[in-house]
Amino acid sequence: MQTTHEPANLKAAYGESGWYAVPDRLPAEAVEKLRQAVDRIGGQERPEIVYEAEQSVVRALHGCHRFDEVCARVVRLPLFVDLAETLLGGPVYVYQFKVNMKQPFEGAAWPWHQDFIFWHREDGMAAPDAVNVAVFLDDVSADNGPLRVIPGSHELGIIDGAAAAAEPSHDWRRHVAASLEYTVPDDVAESLAAASGTESLTGPAGTVVAFHPNIVHCSSNNTSARRRAVLLITYNLVSNAPAAPTRPEFLVSRDSTPVTRVDSNAL
Ligand code: SIN
Ligand code: MN
Repeated sequence: MQTTHEPANLKAAYGESGWYAVPDRLPAEAVEKLRQAVDRIGGQERPEIVYEAEQSVVRALHGCHRFDEVCARVVRLPLFVDLAETLLGGPVYVYQFKVNMKQPFEGAAWPWHQDFIFWHREDGMAAPDAVNVAVFLDDVSADNGPLRVIPGSHELGIIDGAAAAAEPSHDWRRHVAASLEYTVPDDVAESLAAASGTESLTGPAGTVVAFHPNIVHCSSNNTSARRRAVLLITYNLVSNAPAAPTRPEFLVSRDSTPVTRVDSNAL
């Protein structure tokens, strides 16, 4: 009997919905190592760290696989690399690595948006032949600002909004802040949501979810006392690497060497 876990079913489910919750979770010890890495890095002063509007609150850490050993290994875990290669159909490299912290009470929203427009307009990525692998570092539930997706919206291509028509700012801080440069207008997202519904990506720490670069998604403020840290690894097909990105390397990797796997217990 086939299960959704098998490549053909996995691809079919992802192809239809634009997202896929992986049956396997990252083991608790591995999640703990990542949490420790995040705490260690978040306490440093580094250009890769972005703060909320309230400047003492860490919003996100970027490109940690380039300087932290635990993060360097996590992107090479077979669970994630197999998933990305199955979905994309060829060798992949790590395009982007970020941890969105969503701190208790202070973690701010992400408005409705698609990811591919950032990579296409700002970096010159030709096709949405990339995939986000989200790994929950904390338990995620309705009250700590889960990602929300509109199933099937990845099939719509880039949805033009006013911002998409304007000249790019080339200001990378507007790609990581609560006031994003390229958003899907609320009325457009609301009518898509009315037609297709929305899914909140919730689950215990260690949950792994893949989602498509063009899926329309958002997340709300964290109004709870519980952090909602999520690691997002974006794998891109090696053949889809943009020729000459200009954003900082901690946002857009220049090294498109295919990622090699470590042992599953390597973390
Ligand atoms: C994202 O859209 O890149 C992440 C949103 C979130 O962390 O909730
Ligand atoms: Mn996004």
